[in-house]
Amino acid sequence: MKQGGPVIAVDGPAAAGKGTLAKRLAAALSLPYLDTGLLYRAVGRLALDAGQDPAAPAAHFAETLTPEDLARKDLRAPEVAAAASKVAAQPAVRQALVETQRRFAAAQGAVLDGRDIGTVIFPHADVKLFITASPATRALRRFLQLGGDQTAPGAAAQIAEMEDALKTRDAADAGRDVAPMQVAADAQIIETDSLTADEVLALALAYTRQRLD
Ligand code: DC
Repeated sequence: MKQGGPVIAVDGPAAAGKGTLAKRLAAALSLPYLDTGLLYRAVGRLALDAGQDPAAPAAHFAETLTPEDLARKDLRAPEVAAAASKVAAQPAVRQALVETQRRFAAAQGAVLDGRDIGTVIFPHADVKLFITASPATRALRRFLQLGGDQTAPGAAAQIAEMEDALKTRDAADAGRDVAPMQVAADAQIIETDSLTADEVLALALAYTRQRLD
């Protein structure tokens, strides 16, 4: 495929810091950025709004997705994440979103984050990163991101509940038949448990610049 610029794939499990990294990487390299999880979240949201079980056929929502659907403020809710994971297991939903993702990068290249960017959407991406961390680290980060206080009563139970939800979603995303989350053979894995966001960015940028040289 003829590209106008480099394609950088950032894959990994839920709440691993992919979004933060991908956004900063895109800014540093002056590339457009696409959060592909938002596409699935928007489809999941529409299925919920229609009173539909997210496991029921949802391709028609993916085929008619509008910019307004993607701009909704309520796509980050936990029930939307769970619905997104369910609609994302449907081959027809994924198929409907393939071209949108490829077209996004066609003019200038792009940084895209998701689960199957380096394996299915852009198997020939110039740079592939797989960002991961333990479920406990990811749950704690998500809790703090949402303004949680770790010393408050009930915090440990809430964090444990978040960890369970992340694990359930990861298992579904990695275990589905179509485009499961997996590490591309040529991806650089970055384990972020003991790294700050700045350190992750520095590592990713150094690797990316070396690949693009
Ligand atoms: O990255 P996220 O947490 O916003 O993604 C929400 C769900 O969407 C995730 O659980 C699985 C699905 N997804 C996917 O299947 N493929 C992608 N490229 C991005 C997200």
